[in-house]
Amino acid sequence: MIPFVDFKTQYNNLKTEIDKAVHRVLDSGWYILGNEGIAFEQEFASYVGTTYCVGVASGTEAIALGLMALGIVHGDEVITTSLTAYPTITAIVQSGATPVLVDIHTEDGLIDVSKIEQHITSKTKAIVPVHLYGQSCDMDAIKIVADKHDLMIVEDCAQAVGALYEGKKVGSIGECGAFSFYPTKNLGAYGDGGAITTNNEELYNRLLAMRNYGQTSRYSHDSAGINSRLDEMQAAILRVKLLHLDKDNNRRKSIAQRYKNELVGVETLLERTYGEGVYHLFVVKTDKREEFMKYMEENEIKTLIHFPMPIHAQKAFVWERDDEYTNATQFASMIVSIPIYPELEDDQIDTIISTINAFDN
Ligand SMILES: Cc1ncc(COP(=O)(O)O)c(C=O)c1O
Repeated sequence: MIPFVDFKTQYNNLKTEIDKAVHRVLDSGWYILGNEGIAFEQEFASYVGTTYCVGVASGTEAIALGLMALGIVHGDEVITTSLTAYPTITAIVQSGATPVLVDIHTEDGLIDVSKIEQHITSKTKAIVPVHLYGQSCDMDAIKIVADKHDLMIVEDCAQAVGALYEGKKVGSIGECGAFSFYPTKNLGAYGDGGAITTNNEELYNRLLAMRNYGQTSRYSHDSAGINSRLDEMQAAILRVKLLHLDKDNNRRKSIAQRYKNELVGVETLLERTYGEGVYHLFVVKTDKREEFMKYMEENEIKTLIHFPMPIHAQKAFVWERDDEYTNATQFASMIVSIPIYPELEDDQIDTIISTINAFDN
């Protein structure tokens, strides 16, 4: 079976470095908010191209804390996309705000910026663009709308660490960027983790306190805050993996290039000229998804759907204007993700391509 991800091979390839980092933390006797976390924050900020980074417990809380530190409160509305991982919504709700959904482009699954303005009300305070599948949203277009309506931008970079928009890394463009280090991500920890990147010193200081019960100095709390910290073990592991990230992303890009050049019978997503993606996922579209997935399973290749149900169809909320998300509905009914990760061997890629090309469309 060609699995969808291969953590064991990944760990085996890095075993010496990872084990050394883990033992360094165990030997240090210091496990939360210490030197590893500080070093990782500096290294990650430098990677993304921002002045500051704050390590937190997950990507979900990175988005939530970003919004909370920007002053989002109960009753505010935050605009995002109707096709994302559900945690984008969890995070907006955690901040107290009401999520408001915008339909997507069927060519790439990203938010359709031309439809944002029709959803803006007097309560709208922020936009959370989601850099889905490792692609970048059209940030200049989003910034024009945000500036016009005085809205803040919190980039959801959970799937797109290292992706470029007009030469800039995602996470360095909005007020802040939110990253996830969930193990499947391009920069994955061996547990949960997340980070917020920003160039805003005031926001940075608020975030440092808010992730740690609002504590500004010992036993002094200027805000309620939450407990959302990146622990030393994960930080040490991420420091090792960050050193390999560009190489890993380049491997993903070259696999994607082969898929784009060689796959027939399935549609691939449009690559926008403004950006350079990092292929967290490789998504194809087919009218015969059920048969396709069954066929792939029979041929021992794992596929998944990201995501089978658009957000407006989820039962957690009664969404307003739920008749408007026709593109998200259509897109979600056709997409399938095929394996893409740095550990895939060339002969496995050959097998994936020849198997797909032999599918009777
Ligand atoms: C687009 C997107 N946003 C947010 C998240 C949340 O990240 P985490 O699982 O680290 O909370 C994820 C990943 O699960 C994601 O894919």
